[in-house]
Amino acid sequence: MGPTLTIGHMTSNGELAHTSEVPQFGLGTFLMSKPGECKDAVLTALKLGYKHIDTAMAYENEEEVGEAIAEAIDTGIITRDELFVTTKLRRPHAVGNEEAQQRCKESLVNLGLEYVDLYLVHAPPKDPYHRKPTWLGMEECLKKGMTRAIGVSNYGAHHLDKMRSYATFMPSVNQIEVHPWLQRDGLRAATEAVGATVMAYSPLARGDKVKDEKLQKIAENLSCTPAQAAIKWCLDIGCITVPKSSNAGRIEENLGSLTVDLNTQNEQMRGLDEHYISGWDPTSET
Ligand SMILES: NC(=O)c1ccc[n+]([C@@H]2O[C@H](COP(=O)([O-])OP(=O)(O)OC[C@H]3O[C@@H](n4cnc5c(N)ncnc54)[C@H](OP(=O)(O)O)[C@@H]3O)[C@@H](O)[C@H]2O)c1
Repeated sequence: MGPTLTIGHMTSNGELAHTSEVPQFGLGTFLMSKPGECKDAVLTALKLGYKHIDTAMAYENEEEVGEAIAEAIDTGIITRDELFVTTKLRRPHAVGNEEAQQRCKESLVNLGLEYVDLYLVHAPPKDPYHRKPTWLGMEECLKKGMTRAIGVSNYGAHHLDKMRSYATFMPSVNQIEVHPWLQRDGLRAATEAVGATVMAYSPLARGDKVKDEKLQKIAENLSCTPAQAAIKWCLDIGCITVPKSSNAGRIEENLGSLTVDLNTQNEQMRGLDEHYISGWDPTSET
Protein backbone atom coordinates (compact mmCIF):
# COMPACT_ATOMS: atom_id res chain seq x y z
CA MET A 1 0.00 0.00 0.00
CA GLY A 2 1.26 3.49 -0.78
CA PRO A 3 3.84 4.80 -3.24
CA THR A 4 7.04 3.05 -4.26
CA LEU A 5 10.42 4.61 -5.05
CA THR A 6 13.14 3.33 -7.35
CA ILE A 7 16.48 2.82 -5.61
CA GLY A 8 19.81 1.87 -7.20
CA HIS A 9 23.59 1.96 -6.84
CA MET A 10 25.58 4.70 -8.52
CA THR A 11 28.62 3.40 -10.42
CA SER A 12 31.76 5.34 -11.39
CA ASN A 13 30.18 6.31 -14.73
CA GLY A 14 27.22 7.87 -12.87
CA GLU A 15 24.68 5.22 -13.85
CA LEU A 16 22.34 3.45 -11.44
CA ALA A 17 22.93 -0.32 -11.27
CA HIS A 18 20.88 -3.07 -9.61
CA THR A 19 17.76 -0.90 -9.37
CA SER A 20 14.71 -2.05 -7.46
CA GLU A 21 11.35 -0.74 -6.25
CA VAL A 22 10.87 -0.03 -2.56
CA PRO A 23 7.57 0.69 -0.79
CA GLN A 24 8.15 4.16 0.66
CA PHE A 25 6.22 3.38 3.87
CA GLY A 26 6.85 0.40 6.15
CA LEU A 27 6.95 -0.97 9.69
CA GLY A 28 9.93 -0.55 12.03
CA THR A 29 10.57 -3.34 14.53
CA PHE A 30 13.12 -1.94 17.00
CA LEU A 31 12.33 -2.60 20.70
CA MET A 32 9.80 -5.38 20.28
CA SER A 33 11.20 -7.52 23.03
CA LYS A 34 8.32 -9.52 24.53
CA PRO A 35 7.99 -13.01 23.04
CA GLY A 36 5.43 -12.93 20.21
CA GLU A 37 5.22 -9.11 20.16
CA CYS A 38 7.16 -8.71 16.94
CA LYS A 39 5.40 -11.58 15.14
CA ASP A 40 1.97 -10.16 16.08
CA ALA A 41 2.90 -6.63 14.99
CA VAL A 42 4.34 -7.73 11.64
CA LEU A 43 1.36 -9.98 10.91
CA THR A 44 -1.08 -7.20 11.84
CA ALA A 45 0.78 -4.79 9.58
CA LEU A 46 0.87 -7.20 6.62
CA LYS A 47 -2.86 -7.88 7.00
CA LEU A 48 -3.51 -4.12 6.90
CA GLY A 49 -1.51 -3.75 3.70
CA TYR A 50 2.03 -2.85 4.85
CA LYS A 51 4.55 -4.14 2.30
CA HIS A 52 7.89 -3.17 3.86
CA ILE A 53 9.37 -4.48 7.12
CA ASP A 54 12.56 -3.05 8.64
CA THR A 55 14.49 -5.28 11.03
CA ALA A 56 18.13 -5.84 12.02
CA MET A 57 20.22 -8.63 13.51
CA ALA A 58 20.79 -6.31 16.48
CA TYR A 59 17.04 -6.21 17.24
CA GLU A 60 17.12 -9.98 17.93
CA ASN A 61 13.75 -10.42 16.26
CA GLU A 62 14.61 -11.61 12.74
CA GLU A 63 13.17 -15.06 13.59
CA GLU A 64 9.80 -13.57 14.59
CA VAL A 65 9.75 -11.34 11.51
CA GLY A 66 10.41 -14.50 9.47
CA GLU A 67 7.62 -16.43 11.23
CA ALA A 68 5.12 -13.64 10.49
CA ILE A 69 6.21 -13.47 6.85
CA ALA A 70 5.93 -17.25 6.42
CA GLU A 71 2.43 -17.22 7.91
CA ALA A 72 1.38 -14.26 5.75
CA ILE A 73 2.65 -15.96 2.60
CA ASP A 74 1.11 -19.34 3.53
CA THR A 75 -2.28 -17.77 4.16
CA GLY A 76 -2.26 -15.70 0.96
CA ILE A 77 -2.00 -12.28 2.63
CA ILE A 78 1.03 -11.33 0.55
CA THR A 79 3.48 -12.92 -1.90
CA ARG A 80 7.25 -12.78 -1.48
CA ASP A 81 7.48 -10.62 -4.62
CA GLU A 82 5.14 -8.00 -3.15
CA LEU A 83 7.06 -7.83 0.11
CA PHE A 84 10.19 -5.76 0.84
CA VAL A 85 12.40 -6.83 3.75
CA THR A 86 15.28 -4.74 5.08
CA THR A 87 17.81 -6.04 7.58
CA LYS A 88 21.20 -4.87 8.82
CA LEU A 89 24.75 -5.99 9.52
CA ARG A 90 25.47 -5.36 13.22
CA ARG A 91 28.15 -2.81 13.94
CA PRO A 92 30.39 -5.23 15.93
CA HIS A 93 30.15 -7.65 12.97
CA ALA A 94 31.24 -5.03 10.43
CA VAL A 95 34.90 -6.04 10.49
CA GLY A 96 35.61 -7.50 7.06
CA ASN A 97 34.56 -8.92 3.71
CA GLU A 98 33.99 -12.57 4.71
CA GLU A 99 32.32 -11.57 7.98
CA ALA A 100 29.76 -9.39 6.15
CA GLN A 101 28.85 -12.24 3.83
CA GLN A 102 28.66 -14.76 6.66
CA ARG A 103 26.39 -12.49 8.75
CA CYS A 104 24.12 -11.89 5.76
CA LYS A 105 23.73 -15.68 5.39
CA GLU A 106 22.87 -15.91 9.10
CA SER A 107 20.21 -13.22 8.75
CA LEU A 108 18.69 -15.14 5.82
CA VAL A 109 18.54 -18.27 7.98
CA ASN A 110 16.98 -16.30 10.86
CA LEU A 111 14.38 -14.80 8.51
CA GLY A 112 13.77 -18.05 6.61
CA LEU A 113 14.27 -16.19 3.33
CA GLU A 114 16.36 -16.89 0.23
CA TYR A 115 17.14 -13.21 -0.18
CA VAL A 116 16.42 -9.89 1.49
CA ASP A 117 15.48 -6.80 -0.47
CA LEU A 118 17.88 -4.43 1.28
CA TYR A 119 20.91 -5.15 3.45
CA LEU A 120 22.43 -2.24 5.37
CA VAL A 121 25.64 -1.67 7.31
CA HIS A 122 23.99 -0.66 10.61
CA ALA A 123 26.52 2.10 11.36
CA PRO A 124 29.98 3.07 10.07
CA PRO A 125 32.37 0.40 11.38
CA LYS A 126 34.10 1.78 14.49
CA ASP A 127 37.56 1.15 13.05
CA PRO A 128 37.85 3.10 9.77
CA TYR A 129 40.21 0.35 8.51
CA HIS A 130 37.20 -2.03 8.42
CA ARG A 131 34.97 0.20 6.28
CA LYS A 132 36.33 -0.74 2.85
CA PRO A 133 36.51 -4.55 3.31
CA THR A 134 33.07 -4.55 4.95
CA TRP A 135 31.60 -2.71 1.97
CA LEU A 136 33.34 -5.05 -0.49
CA GLY A 137 31.66 -7.91 1.41
CA MET A 138 28.31 -6.12 1.07
CA GLU A 139 28.93 -5.86 -2.69
CA GLU A 140 29.55 -9.63 -2.75
CA CYS A 141 26.17 -10.17 -1.02
CA LEU A 142 24.59 -8.09 -3.80
CA LYS A 143 26.40 -9.88 -6.63
CA LYS A 144 25.59 -13.31 -5.16
CA GLY A 145 21.86 -12.50 -4.95
CA MET A 146 21.64 -12.72 -1.14
CA THR A 147 20.14 -9.22 -1.28
CA ARG A 148 18.54 -7.15 -4.05
CA ALA A 149 20.11 -3.91 -2.79
CA ILE A 150 22.77 -2.78 -0.31
CA GLY A 151 23.11 0.39 1.67
CA VAL A 152 24.36 2.04 4.82
CA SER A 153 22.87 3.49 7.96
CA ASN A 154 24.03 6.32 10.20
CA TYR A 155 26.66 7.43 7.64
CA GLY A 156 27.61 11.11 7.71
CA ALA A 157 28.51 13.11 4.59
CA HIS A 158 32.24 12.45 5.15
CA HIS A 159 31.66 8.68 5.45
CA LEU A 160 29.69 8.69 2.20
CA ASP A 161 32.25 10.79 0.39
CA LYS A 162 35.07 8.46 1.39
CA MET A 163 33.13 5.52 -0.11
CA ARG A 164 33.71 6.98 -3.59
CA SER A 165 37.36 5.84 -3.30
CA TYR A 166 36.55 2.15 -2.72
CA ALA A 167 32.97 1.33 -3.76
CA THR A 168 32.11 -0.20 -7.13
CA PHE A 169 28.45 0.25 -6.22
CA MET A 170 27.64 3.25 -4.03
CA PRO A 171 24.90 2.64 -1.41
CA SER A 172 21.31 2.70 -2.60
CA VAL A 173 20.06 3.96 0.79
CA ASN A 174 21.36 5.82 3.84
CA GLN A 175 19.07 5.10 6.81
CA ILE A 176 19.38 7.99 9.28
CA GLU A 177 17.30 9.63 11.98
CA VAL A 178 15.08 12.20 10.24
CA HIS A 179 11.80 13.73 11.41
CA PRO A 180 10.26 17.21 11.65
CA TRP A 181 12.48 18.05 14.68
CA LEU A 182 15.67 16.83 12.95
CA GLN A 183 15.28 17.77 9.29
CA ARG A 184 18.94 17.38 8.25
CA ASP A 185 18.89 19.23 4.93
CA GLY A 186 22.69 18.91 4.56
CA LEU A 187 22.96 15.18 5.19
CA ARG A 188 19.92 14.48 3.02
CA ALA A 189 21.53 16.41 0.15
CA ALA A 190 24.86 14.58 0.67
CA THR A 191 23.02 11.25 0.56
CA GLU A 192 21.26 12.17 -2.67
CA ALA A 193 24.57 13.37 -4.14
CA VAL A 194 25.92 9.80 -4.04
CA GLY A 195 22.77 8.47 -5.74
CA ALA A 196 21.24 7.12 -2.52
CA THR A 197 17.76 7.56 -1.08
CA VAL A 198 17.24 8.67 2.52
CA MET A 199 15.41 6.23 4.77
CA ALA A 200 14.08 8.17 7.75
CA TYR A 201 14.21 6.22 11.00
CA SER A 202 12.45 7.27 14.21
CA PRO A 203 9.93 9.43 12.28
CA LEU A 204 8.13 10.03 15.60
CA ALA A 205 11.40 10.79 17.41
CA ARG A 206 10.84 7.46 19.25
CA GLY A 207 7.42 8.71 20.37
CA ASP A 208 9.06 11.60 22.28
CA LYS A 209 7.39 14.27 20.13
CA VAL A 210 3.88 12.96 19.50
CA LYS A 211 2.57 15.22 22.26
CA ASP A 212 4.45 18.32 20.99
CA GLU A 213 1.95 21.20 21.26
CA LYS A 214 2.91 22.77 17.93
CA LEU A 215 2.48 19.43 16.17
CA GLN A 216 -0.86 18.89 17.87
CA LYS A 217 -2.07 22.27 16.53
CA ILE A 218 -0.90 21.38 13.01
CA ALA A 219 -2.66 18.01 13.22
CA GLU A 220 -5.85 19.70 14.43
CA ASN A 221 -5.76 22.02 11.39
CA LEU A 222 -5.31 18.99 9.11
CA SER A 223 -7.91 16.81 10.86
CA CYS A 224 -5.36 14.05 11.29
CA THR A 225 -3.39 12.72 14.26
CA PRO A 226 0.00 14.18 15.29
CA ALA A 227 1.78 10.94 14.38
CA GLN A 228 0.18 10.94 10.92
CA ALA A 229 1.38 14.50 10.24
CA ALA A 230 4.98 13.68 11.30
CA ILE A 231 5.12 10.50 9.21
CA LYS A 232 3.61 12.21 6.15
CA TRP A 233 6.21 15.00 6.38
CA CYS A 234 8.97 12.36 6.06
CA LEU A 235 7.24 10.85 3.02
CA ASP A 236 6.60 14.24 1.40
CA ILE A 237 10.30 15.20 1.51
CA GLY A 238 11.07 12.01 -0.44
CA CYS A 239 12.22 9.68 2.33
CA ILE A 240 11.37 6.05 2.83
CA THR A 241 10.09 5.78 6.41
CA VAL A 242 9.36 2.97 8.87
CA PRO A 243 7.46 4.05 12.02
CA LYS A 244 7.44 1.40 14.73
CA SER A 245 4.37 0.34 16.66
CA SER A 246 3.45 -2.85 18.48
CA ASN A 247 -0.13 -1.67 18.93
CA ALA A 248 -2.70 -2.72 16.31
CA GLY A 249 -4.62 0.57 16.51
CA ARG A 250 -1.47 2.65 16.07
CA ILE A 251 -0.17 0.40 13.27
CA GLU A 252 -3.41 1.22 11.44
CA GLU A 253 -3.28 4.91 12.43
CA ASN A 254 0.26 5.25 11.03
CA LEU A 255 -0.81 3.72 7.71
CA GLY A 256 -3.46 6.45 7.55
CA SER A 257 -0.64 9.00 7.13
CA LEU A 258 -0.53 8.09 3.44
CA THR A 259 -3.73 10.01 2.71
CA VAL A 260 -2.89 13.15 4.72
CA ASP A 261 -2.45 16.37 2.69
CA LEU A 262 0.09 18.65 4.42
CA ASN A 263 -0.14 21.46 1.87
CA THR A 264 -1.67 24.11 4.12
CA GLN A 265 0.80 23.36 6.96
CA ASN A 266 4.13 22.90 5.15
CA GLU A 267 5.65 26.07 6.60
CA GLN A 268 4.56 25.14 10.12
CA MET A 269 6.09 21.66 9.73
CA ARG A 270 9.33 23.22 8.49
CA GLY A 271 9.34 25.43 11.61
CA LEU A 272 9.48 22.44 13.97
CA ASP A 273 13.19 21.78 13.26
CA GLU A 274 15.30 22.02 16.42
CA HIS A 275 18.13 19.50 15.80
CA TYR A 276 16.56 17.05 18.24
CA ILE A 277 18.33 13.68 18.25
CA SER A 278 16.18 11.03 19.93
CA GLY A 279 18.58 8.10 19.57
CA TRP A 280 22.26 7.68 18.82
CA ASP A 281 24.24 9.65 16.24
CA PRO A 282 27.20 7.86 14.65
CA THR A 283 26.94 10.21 11.63
CA SER A 284 29.18 12.69 13.42
CA GLU A 285 31.91 10.19 14.35
CA THR A 286 35.22 10.36 12.48
N1 LIG B 1 19.39 2.28 11.74
C1 LIG B 1 19.26 2.66 12.99
O1 LIG B 1 20.25 2.95 13.70
C2 LIG B 1 17.87 2.80 13.56
C3 LIG B 1 17.70 3.45 14.79
C4 LIG B 1 16.40 3.59 15.29
C5 LIG B 1 15.33 3.08 14.58
N2 LIG B 1 15.52 2.40 13.39
C6 LIG B 1 14.39 1.80 12.64
O2 LIG B 1 13.36 2.78 12.52
C7 LIG B 1 12.16 2.28 13.15
C8 LIG B 1 11.36 3.43 13.75
O3 LIG B 1 12.10 4.14 14.71
P1 LIG B 1 11.87 4.01 16.29
O4 LIG B 1 11.30 2.68 16.61
O5 LIG B 1 13.17 4.39 16.92
O6 LIG B 1 10.89 5.16 16.67
P2 LIG B 1 9.52 5.80 16.08
O7 LIG B 1 8.95 4.96 15.01
O8 LIG B 1 9.83 7.21 15.83
O9 LIG B 1 8.59 5.75 17.38
C9 LIG B 1 8.19 4.54 17.99
C10 LIG B 1 7.52 4.90 19.31
O10 LIG B 1 6.36 5.70 19.07
C11 LIG B 1 5.19 5.02 19.54
N3 LIG B 1 4.13 5.22 18.53
C12 LIG B 1 4.03 4.59 17.33
N4 LIG B 1 2.97 5.05 16.64
C13 LIG B 1 2.37 5.97 17.43
C14 LIG B 1 1.22 6.78 17.29
N5 LIG B 1 0.46 6.71 16.19
N6 LIG B 1 0.89 7.62 18.30
C15 LIG B 1 1.65 7.68 19.43
N7 LIG B 1 2.75 6.94 19.63
C16 LIG B 1 3.12 6.07 18.64
C17 LIG B 1 5.58 3.57 19.71
O11 LIG B 1 4.85 2.96 20.76
P3 LIG B 1 3.88 1.68 20.50
O12 LIG B 1 4.71 0.58 19.93
O13 LIG B 1 3.38 1.38 21.86
O14 LIG B 1 2.80 2.14 19.56
C18 LIG B 1 7.06 3.69 20.08
O15 LIG B 1 7.21 3.96 21.45
C19 LIG B 1 12.71 1.28 14.18
O16 LIG B 1 11.70 0.47 14.70
C20 LIG B 1 13.78 0.60 13.37
O17 LIG B 1 13.18 -0.31 12.48
C21 LIG B 1 16.78 2.28 12.87
